[in-house]
Amino acid sequence: MTELKLLSPLKTDTFEFRNRVFMAPMTRGRSPDRVANELTARYYAQRATAGLIITEGTQISEQAIGWTNTPGIYTDEQIEGWRKVTQAVHEAGGLIFAQLWHTGRASHPDFHGGALPVAPSALPFNSQAFTPEGPKPTVTPRAMTVEEIQSTILDYEIAARAAKAAGFDGVEVHGANGYLPAQFLEDGPNKRTDAYGGPVENRARFLLEATDAAIRVFGPSRVSVRLSPRIPYNDMGDSDLEGTYMFAVEALEARKVGMLHFMEPAQLPDGLDLLAPEARKRFTGKFIVNVGYDRDTAERAIATGLADAVTFGTLFISNPDLPERFRRDAALAPSDTATYYVGGEQGYTDYPLLG
Ligand SMILES: Cc1cc2nc3c(=O)[nH]c(=O)nc-3n(C[C@H](O)[C@H](O)[C@H](O)COP(=O)(O)O)c2cc1C
Repeated sequence: MTELKLLSPLKTDTFEFRNRVFMAPMTRGRSPDRVANELTARYYAQRATAGLIITEGTQISEQAIGWTNTPGIYTDEQIEGWRKVTQAVHEAGGLIFAQLWHTGRASHPDFHGGALPVAPSALPFNSQAFTPEGPKPTVTPRAMTVEEIQSTILDYEIAARAAKAAGFDGVEVHGANGYLPAQFLEDGPNKRTDAYGGPVENRARFLLEATDAAIRVFGPSRVSVRLSPRIPYNDMGDSDLEGTYMFAVEALEARKVGMLHFMEPAQLPDGLDLLAPEARKRFTGKFIVNVGYDRDTAERAIATGLADAVTFGTLFISNPDLPERFRRDAALAPSDTATYYVGGEQGYTDYPLLG
């Protein structure tokens, strides 16, 4: 049996992750009442041999909602629901972080009684929201006031407290995929002229204040931040991607955040250089990479020092015991995309373990 670095433990001052095969956050749309439940607990417990599980995007408030049947983390009922999940994962020997999510402009009026979603700026953009009636084009959002921004930062803190009460080992601030913190960070969607717009110091403020809110509750070592410079999803764009993101990385380093979860396709088109090595140089916490990795490319990322761990998304959907499959170099089951976001057990908790 080959000794994969991917399967070696990863130690920090706070954690001992049992391997470097982490589970990426994935929205699964199985919480019709916005509360995690027994089925959620079974799904995550099945995957508890991951070095770390990062939950699906979990909204921090009513206003943060932007997807059908996704769970939240701000009410007592939601805390009780998530407690079932954290207990089941801990009983199975795993560790689990909650991903704190605000969709911002990527939401839809259907989630807000007809009111507009919020964003840094009221700009039209081209995307789709996953509403109860199916995918719908997104709308031009409403620009947030400074008071609203500040109360949203408080929502991050309230959600982090809820996550702690629910027994999570830490939280990840979802700063990726064109959701609210990324909408502030990139200069395409952010045309503000106040303290939250203009130069990168200002555009990064929202992400950093949300991160500070999580740090106030968990301490920096239990906080992860997810960034995705090269993911244009949700009509994102920035005139200086590298400068913008390296500023953010350095600011996260200054805060001694425990983990930086850096999304960048493992295979970039010709002519594009990876930003991950630059980010890695600037960050002394644990550096986690994602998007399109398999057993071999992930092993190489660890062996070459590019990353400390790799998160796997789609492979974890259909291979609940992914670390063991990697160990045995076993065949991997394909995931059924038709059941990614629909309710129920099918395509969720019915993927078998290895015999
Ligand atoms: C069904 C599905 C749901 C996802 N939901 C989220 C999410 O809630 N939060 C997030 O940050 N990324 C989300 N992603 C992105 C994944 O975390 C991951 O970046 C992506 O699947 C690429 O990794 P992979 O190549 O290993 O699948 C989702 C991906 C999939 C397939």
